[in-house]
Amino acid sequence: MTIQQILRDAGSYLKERNIEDPSREAGLLLSWYLKKDLGYLYGHMDMELDENAISGFMSLIERRGRHEPYGYITGQCEFMSLTFEVNPAVLIPRADTEILAEAALFALGKFTLSASEAQIPVLPKKETYRGLDMGTGSGCLAISIAKYMPSIIMDAVDISEEALNTARRNAIRHKVINRVNFFRYDILSDSFISRYTEGNKYDIIVSNPPYIPDGDIPTLMPSVKDYEPYNALAGGEDGLIFYRAIAKLSEKLLADDGILAVECGFDQAENIRDIFAREKLKSVFLKDFSGINRVIVAIKQV
Ligand SMILES: C[S@@+](CC[C@H](N)C(=O)[O-])C[C@H]1O[C@@H](n2cnc3c(N)ncnc32)[C@H](O)[C@@H]1O
Repeated sequence: MTIQQILRDAGSYLKERNIEDPSREAGLLLSWYLKKDLGYLYGHMDMELDENAISGFMSLIERRGRHEPYGYITGQCEFMSLTFEVNPAVLIPRADTEILAEAALFALGKFTLSASEAQIPVLPKKETYRGLDMGTGSGCLAISIAKYMPSIIMDAVDISEEALNTARRNAIRHKVINRVNFFRYDILSDSFISRYTEGNKYDIIVSNPPYIPDGDIPTLMPSVKDYEPYNALAGGEDGLIFYRAIAKLSEKLLADDGILAVECGFDQAENIRDIFAREKLKSVFLKDFSGINRVIVAIKQV
């Protein structure tokens, strides 16, 4: 069977199973499987594949046809131009979350983007900043912030030990393990986080917490609800339980001129602004590419 034939069969197989952009997915999976770039595949459409290669590739296509996310099949995902290991213990980092990473970097004096239009505050210049990532998952936020901001030391917490182990491997891979400390912590617990963080106050706190209302989870796409960790999705009855906890923690943990930046669901920004306001945090919103308020950046009101 040639590359052209197998791509055609794989594309039709994925199309029948309602996978979006089936031909592209088939091409990307074959490219990953053969360790050749897409340009090589398109330039060698007549190349014959042996039986082993065909059956190995088709078993990946069958997994994708069952809606297993592409990232879990390949075990990796791109975020902020960095490659992260992902597995079923961690949420696959989303493009929207890059808006949060960029907002944090903007506040730290890096990058320019539409953040300036939203009047995101910039932190006063310092030799060393301290940051906290709550619900770190793969570590994508803490690690990319540390990677692009060499003068920050990050703490990153998660309730899942397996997620923390994945995040540690990602920090080693990106050579920031000496500046990102990972520890298990339950954001919803009453235990005071300073026990772990040695009483440090943070210049910046970021979080992309679970924010789907529990009752909506069965309505999500199969690739999300059947494969991604429930713990990474479920945000309590109204989806806002973590924002209340993070606002309360920030009151204790955020430096007086510090910044709290969170991602939220498509209809949650205004409710979160109200939750934050009750803890004397003043919010601005950042929109995603669909024009939805997706990131909230807050500062302490003085
Ligand atoms: C939406 S995921 C975000 C992961 C990553 N920061 C990202 O943006 O891709 C939320 C993370 O919060 C973690 N989490 C869930 N409940 C938690 C809790 N009570 N305390 C701490 N972390 C929790 C989950 O394990 C998951 O890794």
